[in-house]
Amino acid sequence: MARPKIALIGAGQIGGTLAHLVALKELGDVVLFDIADGVPQGKALDIAESGPSEGFDASLKGTTDYADIAGADVCIVTAGVPRKPGMSRDDLLGINLKVMKSVGEGIRDNAPNAFVICITNPLDAMVWALQQYSGLPPEKVVGMAGVLDSARFRHFLSLEFDVSMKDVTAFVLGGHGDTMVPLTRYSTVGGIPLPDLVKMGWTSQDKLDAIVQRTRDGGAEIVGLLKTGSAYYAPATSAIEMAESYLKDQRRVLPCAAWCDGALGLNGLYVGVPTVIGANGIEKVIDITLAKDEQAMFDKSVDAVRGLVEACKGIDDSLA
Ligand code: APR
Repeated sequence: MARPKIALIGAGQIGGTLAHLVALKELGDVVLFDIADGVPQGKALDIAESGPSEGFDASLKGTTDYADIAGADVCIVTAGVPRKPGMSRDDLLGINLKVMKSVGEGIRDNAPNAFVICITNPLDAMVWALQQYSGLPPEKVVGMAGVLDSARFRHFLSLEFDVSMKDVTAFVLGGHGDTMVPLTRYSTVGGIPLPDLVKMGWTSQDKLDAIVQRTRDGGAEIVGLLKTGSAYYAPATSAIEMAESYLKDQRRVLPCAAWCDGALGLNGLYVGVPTVIGANGIEKVIDITLAKDEQAMFDKSVDAVRGLVEACKGIDDSLA
């Protein structure tokens, strides 16, 4: 059986890391696409040359021609610009919306059966625009944010409790921005919810609140340190977790920016929610019940996402 074909649209920091991970994990053959001629070809060749030492079987090709992504099983989109210190993800909206138009059309014309994972920011609005421009079924177009935000939350919690990250589960909902909603009630250490751990004296409410805030600011913390771009190792790894669940029909329960029409009281919006990812893409959006305070935070986050979608419609009337 032929290996799956994985197209990476954008061969920058995240795109290159994605290509390396796909090869190391032998998830399939890679096509790296970018408009900057030479970059995708150079990265593909460099990673291919690590194959003999690493011992993986995967072919890697760099290209500036959309025809080369033909028939891709998965497309992961990082095309666009990342933020610089002092910028919010929302500041990228105008420039990255234009990029989503060309990428959406490229995928529509060459890989209409692919499972598409968008990473480009501002995430919730960009994945919405990508679905509109590509015309692919909404269950096949998703945004990567919740897996990354939850991973950051899990990492900080494992440091606080001095336990393995493997035993920490965490749940982050809402938009991938300052209003994201880390849900402590649904986050656990060894199955024990965080509020219970506060009662047990494992940590204090103040410390937990600080970890929640650090999670919300997780992307900005990395931007502030790097100064020349944004995070790429953890974002790439998070998208690979989603792609693997699709390609292997794992039916992982993963939070991601999915099309919600009915679930969680939403009517037609991309926002971070718990989902099941399997061979059909988003197999299910898990319609959880929120407590009053959680619902208020989620509503605020949803409003922020709606505002960005409206801003996209203001820039391009074909989206209205
Ligand atoms: N089509 C294809 N590729 C494009 C296009 C386009 N229209 N416009 C820009 N690119 C390419 C750039 O040439 C660059 O190689 O996208 C790549 C982006 O790479 P980086 O600048 O290194 O950015 P990266 O860190 O990978 O982040 C990409 O993901 O997390 C988000 O906020 C981040 O929106 C940003 C995206």
